[in-house]
Amino acid sequence: MAATTKGAVVVTGASTGIGEACALHLDKLGFQVFAGVRREMDAQTLKQKSSFRLNPIFLDVTDANSIASAARTVADAVGDAGLFGLVNNAGIAVAGSLEFLPTDEFRKQIEVNVIGQLAVTQSFIMLLRQAQGRIVNIGSIGGRSAAPFLGAYNASKFAMEALTDVLRMELRPWGISISIIEPGAIATPIWKKSLTEMDRIRQNLPQQAHKLYGNAINAVGNRAATMAQNGISADRVAEAVIHALTAKKPKTRYLVGQDARIRAVLNLLPDRVRDRLILNSMGLLTHE
Ligand SMILES: NC(=O)c1ccc[n+]([C@@H]2O[C@H](COP(=O)([O-])OP(=O)(O)OC[C@H]3O[C@@H](n4cnc5c(N)ncnc54)[C@H](OP(=O)(O)O)[C@@H]3O)[C@@H](O)[C@H]2O)c1
Repeated sequence: MAATTKGAVVVTGASTGIGEACALHLDKLGFQVFAGVRREMDAQTLKQKSSFRLNPIFLDVTDANSIASAARTVADAVGDAGLFGLVNNAGIAVAGSLEFLPTDEFRKQIEVNVIGQLAVTQSFIMLLRQAQGRIVNIGSIGGRSAAPFLGAYNASKFAMEALTDVLRMELRPWGISISIIEPGAIATPIWKKSLTEMDRIRQNLPQQAHKLYGNAINAVGNRAATMAQNGISADRVAEAVIHALTAKKPKTRYLVGQDARIRAVLNLLPDRVRDRLILNSMGLLTHE
C-alpha cells in the first residue's frame, strides 16, 4: 500500500453523490481514501476518477460479513497508524405515508441509515482510537425537521442525531471527534431512486391508500422532482466534511445549504405554525 503523508479515511456509499464527492475531494487533498462501493463497476469508475491512493472497498453496511471484511482490509493497510477518519454516508430515502408504509420498508430504511452506520462505526472505532481520528456522519436537515411522507427517512436521520450526540460524549475520553452534517437538498441520484422506490411501494398498496393519499403523494413526488433539480452541488457537503475532518476545532453540526438553514429556523416556531409552513411549501395545504 502506498505511503501517504496524510491519514487514511473510510467513506461509505462512495459510488455516487455525496459519498463520491467526499472520496474524490479527500483523495485530491492527499488522504488515503478507502471508498465503500457495492459493485465492481463502481470501483472501476472511481479508480478512473482518482489518484493511485484511492482504494475502493466492497462494503454493504447491512451485511456483517462485508463490514468485517472491509474493516480487516483497512486494518491491514493502515497498520499501527490507525484510521484518521470515517465518513458514514451510505443511505437511502424511503417515502410514503406512515399509515400505509409496509413495515418491512420502514425496517429497510432504519437498517441502512441507522443500524448500518452504527455497525460500521463499531467496526472502525479501534482503528480510529489508534489515530485519535474523527467520525463524520452524514445526517440531514430532515434529522431536525420532519416532513410529511418522509416519516421513515426522518426517523432514521433523527436517530443519527441521537447516535452522534451520544458517541460524542462516549468517545470523548479518547479525543475522537464526531460531527454530523445536515444538508438541505443536494443534487444527487437519491431523489430519482427514492421516487422509483415510492412508485414500487405504491403499486402494492390497497385501493384505500390511493384514495386517501393519492393526490398528496403526487404533490410530494412533483416537489421532490423539483428539489432534485434545484439542489446544490454535493461538493458543498464535501467541503463541510473536510472541515469536520481537518479543522483544529471542528463543529459538532454543519448545516449545508440555505434551505437547511431556513428549516432550522422554522423549528423555533410553535409546532402548528411550523406545520402549516411546511405543508404549504410542499403544496399540501390544498389536499386537506
Ligand atoms: N441528496 C440530498 O438531498 C441529501 C440531503 C441530506 C442528506 N443526504 C444524505 O446523504 C447521504 C448520501 O446520499 P446521496 O444524496 O449522495 O445519494 P446517492 O447518490 O443515492 O448515494 C447513496 C450511496 O449510498 C450507498 N448505499 C445505499 N445502500 C447501501 C448499503 N446497504 N450499503 C452500502 N452503501 C449503500 C449507495 O450505493 P449503491 O450505488 O451501491 O446503491 C450510494 O453510494 C445519505 O445518507 C443521504 O441521506 C442527502
